[in-house]
Amino acid sequence: MAYSEKVMDHFQHPRNVGEIENPSGVGTVGNAQCGDIMRVYFDIDDEGIIRDVKFKTFGCAAAVATSSMSTEMVKGKTVQEALEVTNKAVMEALDGLPPIKIHCSLLAEQAIHAALWDYAEKNGIKIEGLKKPVNDISECIEEEDY
Ligand code: FES
Repeated sequence: MAYSEKVMDHFQHPRNVGEIENPSGVGTVGNAQCGDIMRVYFDIDDEGIIRDVKFKTFGCAAAVATSSMSTEMVKGKTVQEALEVTNKAVMEALDGLPPIKIHCSLLAEQAIHAALWDYAEKNGIKIEGLKKPVNDISECIEEEDY
C-alpha cells in the first residue's frame, strides 16, 4: 500500500493536534469497525468564523493525515464554508488515499460536522445543509457503500 508524500508528511507532522479549553463546539466520532476515534475542537468567533481548531485522533495513518489536512482546510473559514470541506476534498488535497483507506477519511469529515452541530446547538442556530452527525461512521460506510 502506497501513501502519497503529502499523507506521509501530515501523518508524521500532524498540524493542529491538541485541545481547546471552553471550545465553541466539540465533536467526537468513532468507527466501530476498526476502533478508531477522532475528536475535534473549534474556537468560533461572533461572526461565525473558525478562528482555531484542534484535534485528537486515535487512528491509523490515513485518519491522522486526513484529520490534520481537514483542520488546516477549515481554519479561517466560516461555519458554512467548513461544510464544503468534504472527505473527497481532503483526499484530493492529500493527493489521494489507497482505496481501502478511503473510509478513514470520513472520520475527520464527520467529527467536523459533529463539532459544528454542537456549536449550532449551543448557540441556537441552524447551519444550512448540516445533517445530524453520527457517532459511529461505520453506519454511513454501509449506507453510502464506501
Ligand atoms: Fe480505522 Fe483508518 S483503519 S480509521
